[in-house]
Amino acid sequence: MPNTSQCRVCGGTVTEFFDFGRQPLSDAFLKPGTDFDKEFFFRLAVGLCETCTMVQLMEEVPRDLMFNESYPYFSSGSTFMRNHFESLAKRLLTTELTGADPFVVEMGCNDGVMLKTLADAGVRHLGVEPSASVADVAASKGIRVRTAFFELETAQDIVKTEGNADVIYAANTLCHIPYMDSILDGVAALLKPTGVFVFEDPYLGDIVERTSFDQIYDEHFYFFTLQSVQEMASRHGLELVDAERLTVHGGEVRYTLAPKGSRKPTQEMLDLLAQEKARKLNDRATLEAFGAKVLKIREDLVALLTRLRDEGKRVVAYGATAKSATVTNLCGIGPDLVEFVCDSTPAKQGRLSPGTHIPVKESAAFSAPYPDYALLFAWNHAEEIMAKEQAFRDAGGKWILYVPEVHVV
Ligand code: SAM
Ligand code: TMP
Ligand code: ZN
Repeated sequence: MPNTSQCRVCGGTVTEFFDFGRQPLSDAFLKPGTDFDKEFFFRLAVGLCETCTMVQLMEEVPRDLMFNESYPYFSSGSTFMRNHFESLAKRLLTTELTGADPFVVEMGCNDGVMLKTLADAGVRHLGVEPSASVADVAASKGIRVRTAFFELETAQDIVKTEGNADVIYAANTLCHIPYMDSILDGVAALLKPTGVFVFEDPYLGDIVERTSFDQIYDEHFYFFTLQSVQEMASRHGLELVDAERLTVHGGEVRYTLAPKGSRKPTQEMLDLLAQEKARKLNDRATLEAFGAKVLKIREDLVALLTRLRDEGKRVVAYGATAKSATVTNLCGIGPDLVEFVCDSTPAKQGRLSPGTHIPVKESAAFSAPYPDYALLFAWNHAEEIMAKEQAFRDAGGKWILYVPEVHVV
């Protein structure tokens, strides 16, 4: 009998379809000399709710362990993502924010990467961001931010002090939050009757299509589809009215929810929903087939790295992503197979990767001297990184990718 848990959206039964085993906190980079016995581990497994179709983790990690003053992910680290959020902000300015004194709330505003454009345009705004490390950076840019978790009580307090919102926005944040009832009740309370809740997160359709299993880690609790989002929204007086596929972070969908009956669903959303049903995206068999492909990637990646080590080749990794914790811990990839991982984030440098303890070095270490192979953990930024590191290729270096299958380019 497979393991089961209770669905955080509808209370139905979630049945497990893949177990990644013992995993650490994906963003907990350790100081050298840390007592490894004290490192936090949990069982990372993922399941499907047969009632509402939501794919979700089987076990929840306490939120304060993940999102606190040590949270090391700074959204502005990627030029591509800065442009992505700037164009979304500009679009909102011409679509949703045209009335008198519009008000925008962003949950998980991080270092202010999106709100900066709206703040510069003089739009009334508020970021709600629990991780002080990044919230402080947003505040230093002149963005109004509350260092708090968004939930029902926060939303009620914002209504009292600031009034209702025209737009509530969340990027790569909603999928991080297991307590969905509190969030969506908060959204429903905070939105104006004419307002919208726009959020973008990794799309299960892309995860299954590309076997991008490393999207599954402690911080990503939900793996949305239009079907599951529609179900979830309808329980809180909200309705899915638009959905747009995005290429960022390996494939996402930007969903728009509005108070029930306030807007007409777009044809694009209805077409994508029909496509999803035809693909049987929320079927158990589809998800089990995904699991079989993950095991094949593990086998191929370990075989490749072991062979390269035995041949005396130098292999380093590029991008100490949260995602890579799933890969290194599922495959048992430590410093014996990968010499170090380089990353541009100062908060990660000089530390050890979670679980398998690969040293993290600054970006400059990559070329001093170049390795024979670079395992691209930040594959979702491949275009930006490969362009920036063209000299590595010119020097004969090769990239190793493991999504959608293990290959060398
Ligand atoms: N929006 C940024 C982006 O897309 O790059 C940041 C995404 S980051 C992966 C997720 C953010 O959500 C973190 O900064 C984290 O602190 C924040 N977060 C987690 N739980 C939250 C909650 N309940 N309310 C608001 N933000 C939350
Ligand atoms: P992400 O996949 O969650 O966006 O994380 C990307 C990680 O890769 C983050 O730690 C920053 C790092 N990175 C680099 O080291 N160099 C780069 O050029 C880019 C785009 C990211
Ligand atoms: Zn459910």
